[in-house]
Amino acid sequence: MRRKLAAGNWKMNGTSADLDRLATLAASHGAAGCEVLICPPATLVARAADSVSGSAIAIGGQDCHAAASGAHTGDVSAAMLKDAGASHVILGHSERREDHGETDAQVRAKTEAALASGLVAVVCIGEKLAEREGGKTLDVVGTQLDGSLPDGVTGETLLIAYEPVWAIGTGKVPTLAQIGEVHDFLRTRLEERFGAATGGAIRLLYGGSVKPGNAAEIFAVSNVDGALVGGASLKPEDFGPIIDALEASAG
Ligand code: 13P
Repeated sequence: MRRKLAAGNWKMNGTSADLDRLATLAASHGAAGCEVLICPPATLVARAADSVSGSAIAIGGQDCHAAASGAHTGDVSAAMLKDAGASHVILGHSERREDHGETDAQVRAKTEAALASGLVAVVCIGEKLAEREGGKTLDVVGTQLDGSLPDGVTGETLLIAYEPVWAIGTGKVPTLAQIGEVHDFLRTRLEERFGAATGGAIRLLYGGSVKPGNAAEIFAVSNVDGALVGGASLKPEDFGPIIDALEASAG
């Protein structure tokens, strides 16, 4: 059984005034029946980890450098995130691939760094609209999956987030059949590379315009093990019901 996970990606949102959202979430969902992960901006990771301490909510970063330390002004290493109280890190988000030109090889190197520091990596992949419309979705996500993952990952150290770029922040969501097609494809691809046991244990999150109103139907799709939520994770009154829907889907 793969344990379900609801993850919130705050992106470049949030200052200390927003930490009370975490206290609210910890009060209502601090012992949820699924895993709950919040990834605030790097400036808040340490204080966020303090705010949720004593609850089961985990804190993650949104990126890390591939090197452990050194002359990389403005960057943060996996070991630094871990030291600040993070247990997870999002890597290869489409906004990083787009804004910073991150390649699959760089995401792979970052994933290796995260694993070496004891962080769980949440590696993001997803096609752009033109790729979807050109019938290239499975080719694109398959190539990203192959290139972004190092060898030696496990179900405990890695999650994949399938986030169609055109669904992020747009209110547009693929059909349930489209989500299922990609998730089933990714499951097979992981099993082929890592073997049935490991490939079957790696959790596959869906991300892109997940809201309280569509969460339950998305969580019922085969091989959807949870969600990576952007905008709706900023409001406990939206993220709470998404967590509830995930718990309900776990039965
Ligand atoms: P939205 O939920 O705002 O569409 O963002 C999804 C996302 O990019 C999460 O990483």
